[in-house]
Amino acid sequence: MRVLGIETSCDETSAALLDGDGRRVELRSLVILSQDVHRIFGGVVPEIASRAHLASVVPVVERALADAGAETADAVAVTNAPGLVGALLVGVSYAKAFAFARGIPVVGVHHMEGHLFATALEHADAEPPFTALLVSGGHTMLLDVEAWGRYRLLGRTRDDAAGEAFDKVAKLLGLPYPGGPHIERLAATSDGRGGAYRFARPMVRRDQTPADADYYDVSFSGLKTAVLNAVRAADLEADRAAIARAFQDSLIDTLVEKTARAVRQYRRGRVVLGGGVACNGALAAAMRARLEGRGVRVFTPSPRFATDNAAMIARAGLFHLERGERSSLDLNAFASQPLPGLIAA
Ligand code: KG4
Ligand code: ZN
Repeated sequence: MRVLGIETSCDETSAALLDGDGRRVELRSLVILSQDVHRIFGGVVPEIASRAHLASVVPVVERALADAGAETADAVAVTNAPGLVGALLVGVSYAKAFAFARGIPVVGVHHMEGHLFATALEHADAEPPFTALLVSGGHTMLLDVEAWGRYRLLGRTRDDAAGEAFDKVAKLLGLPYPGGPHIERLAATSDGRGGAYRFARPMVRRDQTPADADYYDVSFSGLKTAVLNAVRAADLEADRAAIARAFQDSLIDTLVEKTARAVRQYRRGRVVLGGGVACNGALAAAMRARLEGRGVRVFTPSPRFATDNAAMIARAGLFHLERGERSSLDLNAFASQPLPGLIAA
């Protein structure tokens, strides 16, 4: 089956063609158009994002078809939640029209389930069962993935997503948007673990047990406030890198600790990272340092598949299509929606 994937949930217009047959999956093309315009505003402006998707969705899909040497597809998979509603609607409307005009099925895909499948596009062994840490600009989720379509949601952020924390702290430090890569680069120039700076690890205490509500959850707004206070008291020119490093260390330590807990409780031998923050090399290195000695393999996607892209949407869509699932032409877009396939933790 040849699936056309379409992703427009935030500020990337993306299309991909993927051929799939059971576990044999081959990516034929992937086009990602990032909307640079939001840099001017220091964050994504929803109305501008929708309009930019509108201008680019047709050429992006046409380019993905041309790159694959294909005229059409057997089915369309499109992100329909969660995300910016206006942005999602562009992709959903286009996907439905494309499918209707060709008499082929369309299936709606949950954006975070797409991130869950992304790493498997590059690493054949990133298959369930595994522990998943999804860290993006809008979401932070810790999952036990028993099988594709069977997910235990163990923890999530109570306030800011991990990527959002990077972006907000970058702003405090006077760095451009999106801040994650800038903080990572700056932190790498700071020797020692943040020098004079050290921020508490949020929601991490030794005496927590799996019965505690905060055993797996994370929270980054307190950390952000701690950084703000440090910035106010600091000579920023001298200490910018040390503060960036101390912030990143705190956030990473928290994520690694929570992930290690999930690996332990569910006895998984694999960890899969996904979402834009999975581009962070220090996060991947810390995860490996903590877990690989215990025989746990850690899989990280390359940046092209970590950040928003339509290949992961096509891959998740293929899974649902092969199970016989189809959306009807009244498929709608939703700003938020629970991940499909949730089972009790
Ligand atoms: O998954 P994604 O592309 O979009 C959403 O679905 O939100 O994630 C974007 C987020 C941004 O917050 C960005 O700052 C962060 O991923 N990010 C990083 C790095 N590269 C991107 N965060 C930390 N370190 C990085 N190297
Ligand atoms: Zn995303």
